[in-house]
Formats: sequence, structure tokens, C-alpha cells
Amino acid sequence: MRVGVVGCGAIGSEICKAIDTDEVNSRRLNLGMELKFLIDISPEKIETLCETLLKKPEIVKTDSTELDEILDEIDLVIECASQAAVREYLIPALKKRKEVMILSVGALLSDPSLFGEIERISKEKGCGVYIPSGAVAGIDGLKAGAVGRIDSVELTTRKHPQVFEGNAYIRERGINLSSIKEATTLFIGSAKEAVRHFPENVNVAATLCIACMSPYTEVKVKIVADPAAKVNSHEIKARGDFGDLFVRVRNVPSVANPKTSYLTSLSAIATLKRISFSMRLG
Ligand SMILES: NC(=O)c1ccc[n+]([C@@H]2O[C@H](COP(=O)([O-])OP(=O)(O)OC[C@H]3O[C@@H](n4cnc5c(N)ncnc54)[C@H](O)[C@@H]3O)[C@@H](O)[C@H]2O)c1
Repeated sequence: MRVGVVGCGAIGSEICKAIDTDEVNSRRLNLGMELKFLIDISPEKIETLCETLLKKPEIVKTDSTELDEILDEIDLVIECASQAAVREYLIPALKKRKEVMILSVGALLSDPSLFGEIERISKEKGCGVYIPSGAVAGIDGLKAGAVGRIDSVELTTRKHPQVFEGNAYIRERGINLSSIKEATTLFIGSAKEAVRHFPENVNVAATLCIACMSPYTEVKVKIVADPAAKVNSHEIKARGDFGDLFVRVRNVPSVANPKTSYLTSLSAIATLKRISFSMRLG
């Protein structure tokens, strides 16, 4: 399978290294994939990543010009860039019958027509849309529960205050992150509002919504800034006619981007394994 990656940051770099070496931490993956193109708005990010790769991709680009021709070279496009990049790169890819993987899942909630468009085009063209479980666990249970009925889902995300630096919602409310001395709730609201205000921090809220896609369910999100937090934690509580579920993950932040959990990169690589092999678990 020939792969193109959009976004050479924390997640994109881990994915590209896994494809390039076909291993993670000396453990063989047997993906048998080839990295064909890299796209990033930052030429420095592309260069830094390319320096670490054994086999440099043939095509590197900083924008979507010539996308149509580039797409002819690949079978799968992985988006790990930003919410805007999902529409910019994945809609054209699907139109050309390419498989796609989405990491900036929040885009599927914040851009009102995007989910429907992706669903329609992928059905028409018969190609797969892969959404890794990302920074959370329990997606399998929620998906199963949603076949019946889910009545409520709550997500509590807890990260160090520094992680929220540069966030417009925080700035507009005059919240001084460096003055936070104890666990402080920054936000309570719907998943839709959460992904709009914290696009880089609560993609998991969108993943939960998609997992239990049902008119009964409103995913309630609480975001806490905790100066004692050494890890990024997500707690999920869900209730339905299946019973109830409680999941907590305590994720090591990615070295390259503390907003992002290392588990997210691993879940994307696990999805590549799922694509490569015929056995499906969960
Ligand atoms: N699904 C999940 O659970 C989950 C978890 C963490 C992060 N994410 C999301 O995944 C995405 C990547 O995360 P990351 O930690 O690797 O971010 P990052 O900031 O480390 O890297 C993103 C890279 O994409 C590039 N980029 C941004 N917009 C672009 C565009 N329009 N076209 C091309 N390149 C573009 C940036 O220059 C940067 O190099 C983010 O949107 C993030 O919110 C999802």
C-alpha cells in the first residue's frame, strides 16, 4: 500500500517512522507500506522529519497545489495536521477513490456538513474512512452499546495548564493559566462546543460522539487544568441499556507536542496494522 501523510508534527512523525522502518520500539509491524508523499505547511517540519527517515518520500509539498496528480501515486492518505486539512485533503482523496485516515476528528463535529459529505462520497466510491481510537480507550464498548441504546456519555479531560497556552477561548475569558495553583474547571459543555473551543485538545470528544452516533446521545465534556497533572488523562462514563461503562486513560504526553498523547500515534499505527491484516478484533 502506498501512503501519503499530511502533517509532519508529533503524530505524523511517529506514523512516518513506523512505515519507514516497519517497526516500533524494535517490534516488527509487517505493514509492508511505502511512504510516497509528505505535505506540511512548514518546510522545516518536513525537513526535520525527512532527516530521520531511511527512505525519503519522492514527493514533498507545502500546500495542496497539484494534489490531483499526487493522489494518483497513493492508495491511502493520512491526515494528522489540523481540522481545516481534513476537508482540504480528504474530500479530494475520497473523490479519487483513495482510502483515508482522520486524526483531527474534531473537524467532523465543527464543520457541520463534513461528516455527511465524507459518509456519502466514501459510500459512492466504495473506499474506507479510518478513525483511530486516538487518545482514548473503550470505543469498542461504546460502539457495541450504541447498537442498543446509550443514554448518557460524559468525558472529563485533565491536562497541565501549560497545555492550554495559546488557546483563544482561554485568552478571551482572561484566564491566567500560570496563576492556576489547583485543579480548575476551564470548560463544561457539549462535545460540539468543546471541539470548537479546544480544537487541539479534545478530539476524543468527537471520537466518542461518532462511536455512539445516536439521536439520544449528547456527549457532555468537562475540561480541567490541573497543575499536578503529569499525564493527559481522559475519563469516560457512559450509561445505556447495556449497563454502564467507566474508562480512564492516563496518557504520556508526546515529547514533540505535549497537547497530544503518545497513545494517539500508537492508535494510528495500530489502525495501519488493522488495514494490512485480514483479522479484525473489536
Ligand atoms: N484523534 C485524537 O485522539 C487526537 C489526539 C491528539 C491530536 N489530534 C489531532 O491530530 C492533529 C495532529 O496532531 P499533532 O500533535 O501531530 O500536531 P502537531 O502540531 O505536532 O503537528 C501538526 C502538523 O501539521 C501541520 N499543518 C497544520 N495545518 C496544516 C495544513 N492545513 N496543511 C498541511 N500541514 C498542516 C503543522 O505545520 C504541523 O507540522 C491535530 O489536529 C490534533 O488536534 C487528534
